[in-house]
Amino acid sequence: MFKDLNVVIGVTGGIAAYKACGIVSYLKSEEANVDVIMTKNACEFITPLTLETLSGNKVITDMFERPDYIDVKHISLARKADLFLIVPATANIIGKVANGIADDMLSTTIMATKAPVIFAPAMNNGMYENPIVQNNLEKLRSYGYKIIEPSIGHLACGYEAKGKLPKSEEIIDYVKVLVKERK
Ligand SMILES: Cc1cc2nc3c(=O)[nH]c(=O)nc-3n(C[C@H](O)[C@H](O)[C@H](O)COP(=O)(O)O)c2cc1C
Repeated sequence: MFKDLNVVIGVTGGIAAYKACGIVSYLKSEEANVDVIMTKNACEFITPLTLETLSGNKVITDMFERPDYIDVKHISLARKADLFLIVPATANIIGKVANGIADDMLSTTIMATKAPVIFAPAMNNGMYENPIVQNNLEKLRSYGYKIIEPSIGHLACGYEAKGKLPKSEEIIDYVKVLVKERK
């Protein structure tokens, strides 16, 4: 199902960033072409090297990196993508995209793409329940972005609440349904 599909994975600076590795690895094993964009803050949690090795492609973190050849990367990736999956999606990236802010490689590429974009939010329950975050999620939905609802579970803060990144299998199942719909 994923063979030759161009998937762009956006990784943001949340504690669940390491879970993106399993998803990238799975998509590669299913023969998808996977490009990864990490925010600068995501690099505090996991290294580009890990995702570079798993994806087989150079991980992009810097909007202004000078390429080896002339290529406006945020536009070429935005056009090449069949699908974007932002996993995990911080309150910050949700807020930025919902409000038209494009101030780094990930938010700018999302802004430029016509491909479907799925956000998998994961955060502390206080952040998740904040009406600003809820309003931003609603805004994203109204623009046609897809949101995978976070689950209830043991959060990194040490208690049970809603805000946990769903199991990778659930995220992949969600992606499969979307891919099937578009075929
Ligand atoms: C240890 C730690 C864990 C964090 N986990 C989350 C998280 O799960 N979700 C979230 O939205 N923000 C989390 N943050 C805050 C984000 O890193 C912060 O809002 C940052 O600006 C996000 O930047 P980005 O969206 O550009 O990656 C965490 C910060 C720290 C220090």
